[in-house]
Amino acid sequence: MYFIANWKMFGVLNSLNSIHKVVKFLKNFKKNNSLKIIYCPPNTLIRPMTKKLKDTYIDVGAQNCHEHDKFGAFTGSVNSIMLKNVGAKYVIIGHSENRQAGESDKLINLKIKSAIKSGLKVIFCIGETLQQKRKKITKQVLNKQIGFGLNKIKIKNNIILAYEPVWSIGTGVIPKKNELFETINFIKKKINKCKVLYGGSVNPKNINDLKSIVNIDGYLIGGASQDPKKFIDIIKKTYS
Ligand code: 13P
Repeated sequence: MYFIANWKMFGVLNSLNSIHKVVKFLKNFKKNNSLKIIYCPPNTLIRPMTKKLKDTYIDVGAQNCHEHDKFGAFTGSVNSIMLKNVGAKYVIIGHSENRQAGESDKLINLKIKSAIKSGLKVIFCIGETLQQKRKKITKQVLNKQIGFGLNKIKIKNNIILAYEPVWSIGTGVIPKKNELFETINFIKKKINKCKVLYGGSVNPKNINDLKSIVNIDGYLIGGASQDPKKFIDIIKKTYS
């Protein structure tokens, strides 16, 4: 099971003290080979976090990258080579917060290609808005996001898919169990080589419900991942 912490635009150097608790917990946690933890902090914390997590099983990833896989005159941007260089092994691409800010499927496709070329693994996010859900076009939306996003990309173990319904992010609302099972199943049938995670308001209170959905391969966690106690609780409850 994957537990991916997306810190979004939260965190300064002091925030790194909190991950010590997670490292300590993992040392005493009965080792489970399927457990995979990845922290995706803001770019400013990737290097110091990688150093802090040296000699642990926790990996570090970034939250986005520029689509160019060479250096260039793109003020304020960071590409996948730079992220790899400071210790990132993963990068989140296609998060709805960036799609809403104007990131297109075509751009997402270029970003994924550049990340793979640089040797990063991609956490590729897809999900429908509330309006699209109400119109009952979730499957068409996901189909399009997957089709364009992964166009001409050879899928091996280089892509992890994260289904994050936009209406569930930061709202405390999660999909109904049967609906979520069905959507994950739909995604898995479309790209059978990928692990498929769920993201959107995952917390210690709803993890028991979520873990009963048997086709989910892990979670992409926003708010709750910044609190080590909640993050640990989610992991513990998943395996209990
Ligand atoms: P929350 O867990 O805060 O709803 O955020 C989910 C998310 O966007 C993870 O990428």
